[in-house]
Amino acid sequence: MKLLSIVGARPNFMKIAPLVHAVEGHNRDITVESQRITHCLVHTGQHYDAAMSAAFFNALNIPQPNIDLGIGSGTHAEQVGKTMMALEPVLLREKPDWVVVVGDVNATCAAAITAKKCHLRLAHIEAGLRSFDKRMPEEINRMVTDTLSDLLFTTDELANDNLRREGHSAGKIRLVGNIMIDTLESQRVKAQELTLASILERYGNTVPAWLNEPFGVVTLHRPSNVDAAEVLMPLVRVLSDEVATCLPLIWTVHPRTRERLKQCGVWASLQQHPRIALIDPVDYHAMLKLNMEARLMLTDSGGLQEECCVLGTPCITLRDNTERPVTLRENGGTCVLTGPDPDKMLRAVESFLSIPPASVSLRGSSSTHQQPIGKE
Ligand code: UD1
Repeated sequence: MKLLSIVGARPNFMKIAPLVHAVEGHNRDITVESQRITHCLVHTGQHYDAAMSAAFFNALNIPQPNIDLGIGSGTHAEQVGKTMMALEPVLLREKPDWVVVVGDVNATCAAAITAKKCHLRLAHIEAGLRSFDKRMPEEINRMVTDTLSDLLFTTDELANDNLRREGHSAGKIRLVGNIMIDTLESQRVKAQELTLASILERYGNTVPAWLNEPFGVVTLHRPSNVDAAEVLMPLVRVLSDEVATCLPLIWTVHPRTRERLKQCGVWASLQQHPRIALIDPVDYHAMLKLNMEARLMLTDSGGLQEECCVLGTPCITLRDNTERPVTLRENGGTCVLTGPDPDKMLRAVESFLSIPPASVSLRGSSSTHQQPIGKE
């Protein structure tokens, strides 16, 4: 059998790693040559900075992609269109039995459309997630990809419900759990061995005196949060003037966000802030370590919400909705939604800080087969 899988952006890499390694394991174990799986890994190049791409391939021991389409940045239409044009001849030449896509980035959607237009069978890992917010680019990517897929691998029952409600036949849906959490479980020991000081030094900051204290971690990259100064600046103000005074912050800054902070004229002052450490995007193990040690996560990332639930890190989700409702506290997770509203965010910070770390609800893991653990 021949598989062709496609990745494009940072959150794809931790989802493809277990599949790559499972195929390698299968090929090592087989006794009959006809059972061999040929795996062609295609990188669309949506993310191309070493910190956003190569660092994850290295950390997760993913082999170099067989094919790199080198798409790069652009508008949504440019990214999707260029990916489709570059991928079509690859699919026609490689003729895989299955095309496998993961997650919900533009590469996922572009690959799904191209595969089906080439009459190839398509499997989607992390199917069925819905935020019900079509202003979110990933929601469109998820809906298009699921509509076209022949096999829908899901993380939880709520995703199954969404797919059934949309009319997908039960035979196409397989509840397999969360492949990204498989990566977390396989890497947590390696992450634990890192020191916080080494992470800060490596990713561009001096080691602050407060590093022995409880700290929060910030990540922000969604266009809805960072593109408009009217949304970004109030967030920056509450982080720097309010949150950081009670909880020092390590902020891993996405390239998009860094540009916006510079355009808004606050980059230099944030760099000087005594209680905020700005660092470059970190690799997989460093992020896992930061999450393990954080008193609190403030993020608009989907994947981090899930990882927080498994690690027991209280998570303030700076979004009005989530496609991962299992991560919410009311469903047994560790996350609360505050949107980009500074007041709600501050109240959530105060509320979480008033609860001793160990008593944060830890029942909710988005994985069907992993149990979350508490913080020491
Ligand atoms: C993409 C995904 C998002 C995911 C996020 C993780 C879509 C629609 N969005 O958003 O779901 O959560 O990745 O990071 O697919 N840039 C660089 N270097 C890079 C990549 C990007 O500097 O290696 C900068 C460029 O200015 C680019 C901008 O970041 O225009 C945004 O990158 P893009 O891939 O368009 O979207 P993300 O915001 O990263």
